Amino acid sequence: MTEASHVPVLLERVLDLLEPSVAVDRPVVVDATLGLGGHTEAMLNRFADLHVIGIDRDPEALARAKTRLAAFGDRVTFAHAVYDEIAEVVAEAGFRTVSGVLFDLGVSSMQLDLADRGFAYAQDAPLDMRMNPEDELTAADILNTYTSRDLAKVLREYGEEKFAKRIADAVVAERAREPFTDSARLVDLIRTSIPAAARRTGGNPAKRTFQALRIEVNDELGVYRRALPASLEILAPGGRVVVLAYHSLEDRITKRAFTEVTTTDVPRDLPFVPEGHEARFRLVTRGAEMATEAEIDENSRARSVRLRVVERIAA
Ligand SMILES: C[S@@+](CC[C@H](N)C(=O)[O-])C[C@H]1O[C@@H](n2cnc3c(N)ncnc32)[C@H](O)[C@@H]1O
Repeated sequence: MTEASHVPVLLERVLDLLEPSVAVDRPVVVDATLGLGGHTEAMLNRFADLHVIGIDRDPEALARAKTRLAAFGDRVTFAHAVYDEIAEVVAEAGFRTVSGVLFDLGVSSMQLDLADRGFAYAQDAPLDMRMNPEDELTAADILNTYTSRDLAKVLREYGEEKFAKRIADAVVAERAREPFTDSARLVDLIRTSIPAAARRTGGNPAKRTFQALRIEVNDELGVYRRALPASLEILAPGGRVVVLAYHSLEDRITKRAFTEVTTTDVPRDLPFVPEGHEARFRLVTRGAEMATEAEIDENSRARSVRLRVVERIAA
């Protein structure tokens, strides 16, 4: 196995934010994005009685996390699942409610580093990008079958790509010659499709297209939209959901969902909130928290992180 690593983002802050919610008898936290288990390992070290249910859709990540966390024995339950199945996973592990849920969204550095997974634009590799290699749809399938219009929509919405239409048109013209299989050809095509001035700024122009394809391949936003309400449902009173988002759309979904459950449907000018209309959750973070410059200097993944936390109000 290639030795790959991943430095957990906002680690101490995440632990501090979970601390009040795990100060209960037999606490359970779901790490919905176990990855290489960096956050989980630190939680298990800091909170002596904690049990963690670790979910990942990537079997390679799970295998590595299992090795790393072996010393914690039965304090960890591993689940190969997509995190919108969180309620089923928790029930199967024998719990009804949990004290916390952590989402550290996106891909891990390990996935980016393994060239054959096709997530990175810097190496020539198969256009795959599936987090679970058993899933059907690959990045190549999208490039070879989507209409120019649908492809442009994916690139614009998920990659915030200004030249989405140009790139999509170029892909459709190019695939008629020969279907796409590997990343280098796509990277070259993107470079030549965008205006020369845009090539000179903003890093590798393929970055946005690769991010967009990855989000589409794994239906990341659709899954996350379903997972968030499901995770709020299984929270015990006093329990918290902690989210680390790296993409503005993910952060927007988080913000909306948290705002919805922390506000009441009572008109603002009513002097009191009638019984049964109280919000069931409260915001723990005011706005989104970001990483410090010092952390960003050490870990470039921290640059785009937005942290938000919500708590179920104790009954
Ligand atoms: C940023 S990494 C997590 C890193 C982890 N916190 C650590 O410290 O090692 C995100 C992980 O979540 C997994 N993942 C992404 N979307 C998922 C989903 N919908 N369901 C389950 N796992 C998912 C990815 O496979 C990846 O391993």
